[in-house]
Amino acid sequence: MERTFVMVKPDGVERRLVGEIIRRFENRGLRLVGLRLLTPSREIAEAHYAVHRERPFFGELVDFVTSGPVVAMAWEGNQAISLVRTMMGALKPELALPGTIRGDYTTDIQTNLVHGSDAPETAGQEIALWFGADGLTN
Ligand code: PPS
Repeated sequence: MERTFVMVKPDGVERRLVGEIIRRFENRGLRLVGLRLLTPSREIAEAHYAVHRERPFFGELVDFVTSGPVVAMAWEGNQAISLVRTMMGALKPELALPGTIRGDYTTDIQTNLVHGSDAPETAGQEIALWFGADGLTN
């Protein structure tokens, strides 16, 4: 069993895709173990994307993710981290296959609806960042 952090970004909330995204993960058999709706502070957004601090798109990425409400979630299941990333679809729009969330609903590298942790270490860090050390109830 593995846990992963997933965020529906502001574009996903704005486009009313929260239910669709949750439905896909629930249908697949993952278990929702944490959920928060919030407009992120710059502090939490900068910490979340700290690894990209030196990239040219960093400022724009933080502006975007703090521009409105997001849905922060923790999901649990067998190989949850890679399973979620497969279902999200690739970062590069031209590589995001139909049937994936990005492949079905977006063509943009920034307004790409969802974020999912890329490894067990980052999953643990991101769940702690967004939910606090003991923020998950089960
Ligand atoms: S990379 O390029 O392999 O480091 O990509 P990754 O670590 O998976 O994610 C990069 C995140 O930054 C967002 N973003 C962009 N990436 C690349 N180029 C541009 N121009 C850009 N603008 C924004 C991208 O959506 C990834 O967000 P997350 O939330 O991590 O998926």
